Amino acid sequence: MQLDPEDERILAGEQGETRQKMLELLVALGKVFGAEKLVPIRSAQVSGASYKTIGKYGLEWLASLDAKAVVPAVLNPIGMPRTRWEEMGIDPDFAKNQQAVVAAYERLGVLLDCTCTPYYLHETRYGDHLAWSESSAVSYANSVLGARTNREGGPSALAAALVGKTPCYGLHLAKNRVPQMVIDVRANTSGWGIAEFGALGFHAGKLVGNRVPFFRGIRPEPDQLKAIGAAMAATGAVALYHVEETTPEVQKNRYDLSGLDVISVEQSEISRLFLELPVDAVAVGCPHCSPAELAEIARLLAGKVVTKPLYVFAAKGVIDRNVKVVDSIEKSGARVFADTCMVVSPAMEQYHSIMVNSGKALAYVPNMCGGQARIGTIEDCIRVATE
Ligand code: F3S
Repeated sequence: MQLDPEDERILAGEQGETRQKMLELLVALGKVFGAEKLVPIRSAQVSGASYKTIGKYGLEWLASLDAKAVVPAVLNPIGMPRTRWEEMGIDPDFAKNQQAVVAAYERLGVLLDCTCTPYYLHETRYGDHLAWSESSAVSYANSVLGARTNREGGPSALAAALVGKTPCYGLHLAKNRVPQMVIDVRANTSGWGIAEFGALGFHAGKLVGNRVPFFRGIRPEPDQLKAIGAAMAATGAVALYHVEETTPEVQKNRYDLSGLDVISVEQSEISRLFLELPVDAVAVGCPHCSPAELAEIARLLAGKVVTKPLYVFAAKGVIDRNVKVVDSIEKSGARVFADTCMVVSPAMEQYHSIMVNSGKALAYVPNMCGGQARIGTIEDCIRVATE
């Protein structure tokens, strides 16, 4: 693997033990995957942020590190809002440990945006090399923005943030970004919203595995693309997908689809995921809400009062830029929380059945929160929360 003189100095320990160890990790990873070199990155997004997932040993490891990020590096959602955690019913012991995790990342120079949608806060351009780790963010960066990132683990994303580079293999290389199969959607998608596209991703992810799919028959908007990608990364291992006439690499390349496997998805395969189940809470914002999603929730809640807990999750930066919309949502009794989500927060474990409008949450809530999950449109979620 080619290393430049600065890399050699880091490996010799001239910039401290932490950076030396981090570069050793990246070089070892690169060798495993056949990378010929390291590539400079524009930003990192670091998972392994909730105390619920990393626990005591993860915290001890973070606290042992001593270096600063050299590129913008954003933290993934943590187990609670950094403020208002008491309002979410978080146990004070958990809060103390979570605050220690956040402090450890802050010391390493990681930005405390605590979101899986860093692209709403920091510019990410076509062709940028990144080291992002949260799977929906990875899918959005690759597929919707045309940036290039592998799905990093928390430690390798943090290592890349501290060194400013990542091994150049996998989705950093154009040859690995071409479609490997076709999905023909045979449904009338004109009235579909985020939930239906999320359900499509939930279903498709199981068929695709880790291939790069090319969708035909759909024309999703960016928030709908976000929903497809998040769900496909949850039920499959899809880190990049293309949509005809829609996603950026399709606009710039002429792909030869002949000879590829073709799978059809029918309307009935999507409809049957929308089950009528009683629920005791409703949670939306997986991935974290865009400004447009917050505005839609506010519009649907106007003049209504919630009768069940209704959680809305978004990045703090998005909340801060949409204060009036957030106030109007909270007037109904719903709560808009930053920094966390229905999957990584222990607060959701108190519910037996949660309604979501996300294919990813549909996949993860049962395993991560222990309850059942039901998917519905955003209109259904608001109706159920206020009936
Ligand atoms: Fe984001 Fe949490 Fe969903 S990290 S993608 S809101 S599971």
